[in-house]
Amino acid sequence: MAEYLFRDSPALLEVTGAKSSCVIGKNGKKYLDFNTGWGIGNSGWSNASIKLAIKSFNGPAYVAPYYYYARWEELAKKLVLLMPNRNYSCFRATGGTEAVEIALKISKAFNKREKFVAFDNAYHGQSLACMALVGLHKDKFGPYAENSCIRLQASSSEWEQTTLQTVEAIEKSDVCAFISEPIICNLGVIVPPISFFKEVKKACEKTGTVFIMDEVITGFGRTGKWFGFEHFGIEPDIITIAKAFSSGYSAIGAAIAKAKIAEAMRFDFSNYSSFGWHPLSVETAIANIDYVKKNCLVKKSEKSGEFLTEELAKFCKPEGKGLCIGFESKNPGIKKNCLKDGLIIAQFENRAMLFPPLEIEKNEMNKAVKIIKKNIC
Ligand SMILES: Cc1ncc(COP(=O)(O)O)c(C=O)c1O
Repeated sequence: MAEYLFRDSPALLEVTGAKSSCVIGKNGKKYLDFNTGWGIGNSGWSNASIKLAIKSFNGPAYVAPYYYYARWEELAKKLVLLMPNRNYSCFRATGGTEAVEIALKISKAFNKREKFVAFDNAYHGQSLACMALVGLHKDKFGPYAENSCIRLQASSSEWEQTTLQTVEAIEKSDVCAFISEPIICNLGVIVPPISFFKEVKKACEKTGTVFIMDEVITGFGRTGKWFGFEHFGIEPDIITIAKAFSSGYSAIGAAIAKAKIAEAMRFDFSNYSSFGWHPLSVETAIANIDYVKKNCLVKKSEKSGEFLTEELAKFCKPEGKGLCIGFESKNPGIKKNCLKDGLIIAQFENRAMLFPPLEIEKNEMNKAVKIIKKNIC
């Protein structure tokens, strides 16, 4: 039989709809969504405000990147006002991989160096450059230019050593950029100590290495702050965003770079994205940011995160911030077992992860905790 749609593995679930914190499967079965597409649906599925923005949009079907479009400026201003100061500017992208690619390009244009420092086995996207950063599928898509990437080991018990190694690598070699998620969601939600990022940032400043925070999952209130880097008292040189930038209502991303670093890209055709910040996507992102602000989702994430963490701590060791939580599980089939019981969670090796919508109700958290408790061993 012809396979019209290629898949690398069988579909987890047939989805027919989604509302608030639930995904609806075949035959109307409801699943409590504590994954939200790996941290996409911060504002909840079927959000009336964002849907209204889409429905009432009456602007141009398309604007080519080389034109001026006022709503681009409005969105860029909204983003920059969320940064530590106003000396940042935005590059338009369609998603996370493209945002990270742009961040790497900006870094190269800025200091003309070759090496990147990233966490081994982490995740920053599916392009060859993003995969090379972390060694993803080296056996299938390699060889990568190995001597252009220094890969760190993230281990919650060895941060002192990791800090020393990272600082040494940055100070000794000709490193173009350091890149990491502030809270490493793609390794099972690992929270580095404040001293790690502070020391690494100091080394970057000393050597002219670009410090990139990949906020594709951790952005827009996920961790109980607008952005994950705020937990560490650092000022990144470049921030990459996507996913919850639109809460899933459109494909949109951005690299937000310090203006003096962004200057290095001021040459013809340094970056181009036909669909980066498509007019309809811009409307969804603006509506989403306004919704997050108006409904205090960042605070709600912090509060609900505290509650969920306390409940989980009664039978496991949760790690994370806000509604970005990971914990170890002895059951390799925890994700599948929870799904059978009507709960969608994420899993990376022996760690389960929770990224529910930020307006999750207490009774929904209690229900999820019950299912997790049943399936954790
Ligand atoms: C931290 C991080 N960076 C980048 C990406 C790539 O984003 P996208 O799938 O939108 O290309 C992801 C996707 O999961 C991610 O988690």
